[in-house]
Amino acid sequence: MPVPKIAPSMLSSDFANLAGEAKRMVEAGADYLHMDVMDGHFVPNLTLGAPIIKCLRKHTNAFLDCHLMVSNPEQWVDDYAKAGASMYTFHIEATANAAALIAKVRATGMKVGIAVKPKTAIESVFDYANDVDMILIMTVEPGFGGQAFMNDCLPKVRALRQKFPNLDIQVDGGLANDTIERATEAGANVIVAGTSIFSAPSPKDTIQHFRDCVLRNVTNK
Ligand code: DX5
Ligand code: ZN
Repeated sequence: MPVPKIAPSMLSSDFANLAGEAKRMVEAGADYLHMDVMDGHFVPNLTLGAPIIKCLRKHTNAFLDCHLMVSNPEQWVDDYAKAGASMYTFHIEATANAAALIAKVRATGMKVGIAVKPKTAIESVFDYANDVDMILIMTVEPGFGGQAFMNDCLPKVRALRQKFPNLDIQVDGGLANDTIERATEAGANVIVAGTSIFSAPSPKDTIQHFRDCVLRNVTNK
């Protein structure tokens, strides 16, 4: 049965105080810390890489959910494993051999996820869903925080949930108080949120609200 996992996106944190921000989110109830890796090539933005994951790992035991928005995701697997990443989620659009990449990530001991961009058909991951720990359905075009939630991605969440009742299904982009209900109704149980959690008067209350929505609409449905 899919349980709630709330994953604040550290992209919205104060990068100059990453350790403190991680601690603050864990204390507010975060299950995962979502780490957005962008290479300026697969997406038109540049963020962080394995050296920063390695530094952060020294300050926290939290589950580091790494979202690799990079071309050639095969290239970085070992670096992230050595850095202490907990999960390595690559984009299906970025690889020519998803099965081999899944095996490569598994061999390191990290958990493995596959992400799909808004315009990518969900059928593209059906063949791999039983071999991964999570499927990430982007609900904005990857590259930037603070974008508007794309409703037209919801049918993909619904279709995936219908076919895989126990799968961890992550949504990422524009998740907030006004979109969490529909995302969870469609079947998402792993919730990434940057802007809405970091700008909330109480990140703890926002995380708890997201958790309650997953419990009501997915776990106990
Ligand atoms: C976007 C990233 C997201 C981003 C979400 O490319 O993958 O994780 O941080 O930010 P919000 O929650 O602000 O839409
Ligand atoms: Zn992300």
